[in-house]
Amino acid sequence: MIEKINDLRRRIEEFTPTTASGVEELRIAVLGKNGEINALMEQFRTVAPEMKREVGQALNAVKTLATERIAELKGSYSDNNKEVRAAADLTRPGTNDTLGSRHPVSVVMGEVCDIFARLGYTIADGPEIEDDWHVFTALNFPPEHPARDMQDTFFIEKNPDILLRTHTSSIQVRTMQTQKPPIRVICPGRVFRNEAISARSHCMFHQVEGLYVDKNVSFADLKQSVLYFAKEFFGEKATIRLRPSYFPFTEPSAEVDVSCQLCGGAGCNVCKYTGWLEIMGCGMVDPAVLEACGIDSREYSGFAFGMGIERTAMLKYGIRDIRLLFENDVRFLQQFESA
Ligand code: DAH
Repeated sequence: MIEKINDLRRRIEEFTPTTASGVEELRIAVLGKNGEINALMEQFRTVAPEMKREVGQALNAVKTLATERIAELKGSYSDNNKEVRAAADLTRPGTNDTLGSRHPVSVVMGEVCDIFARLGYTIADGPEIEDDWHVFTALNFPPEHPARDMQDTFFIEKNPDILLRTHTSSIQVRTMQTQKPPIRVICPGRVFRNEAISARSHCMFHQVEGLYVDKNVSFADLKQSVLYFAKEFFGEKATIRLRPSYFPFTEPSAEVDVSCQLCGGAGCNVCKYTGWLEIMGCGMVDPAVLEACGIDSREYSGFAFGMGIERTAMLKYGIRDIRLLFENDVRFLQQFESA
């Protein structure tokens, strides 16, 4: 019996619970109704009378030890709890979570759409995985026509009729098929080209396409709309110039340059000392495209334009490498927080 008591004492002394519930478990196991001390008390009755004094003292001592030790352990845990309560002092000022920022591509895309929304354009959407007809044929790129080489295309191996759209111009086809003029849409979206990735080009980027079809739409309307956009986006001082160009889906076609806002047209390394930055392609919708989409080209005419969002963002913010826009390094992205 003395041995059992000594064994219990040792265990109590050595016991170092790591949690408050560990202390409580110890209390129940030792001091509880069915605990070890009560069991020993029970056994005490059978102890021979000449041993009673010695065993009784040892038993009382271990009971006191257990009571004190558990009280002490409990105290240390409630002290800890006090610390936890102190750490959660509700009168202290809160910590601010860092806010995310919009990606510069989203910022620019939103701005471009807003500017055209003010001119009465609505947003139109279309699939990224397209068929040949919507991306090329309906836009006046006949099969085998060399103009198809202007855009390196990702085809789906099993079915060359299915491809990743190379431009958002496919959305103008879908819009003309489903809406009756007057049509005024702006089509933002992701496009894909089978190009080597470099500082200036990427295999995936974003475009915004615009389309206006109505009676008597003229090239002057196109020019004025583009000028309005340039001034809204780049600033009141911006001017534009149009250079003749070629796209299968527009006739005549033009490339739009905006005066370089970084050097005010004087020439710098961003505009390659020309004073001008190329911002978009545009033109009068080719009558063959209107007809392919079920619109009578004798009654209606229209203009279209298309621009690259990454390119435009790079010009606006002076970003020199398109790859930065896809790396998602927060140190880079944070700079556009207030944009
Ligand atoms: N789709 C052309 C491209 O990806 C951009 C473009 C040029 C769109 C002229 C147009 C346009 O609507 O009229 O290079």
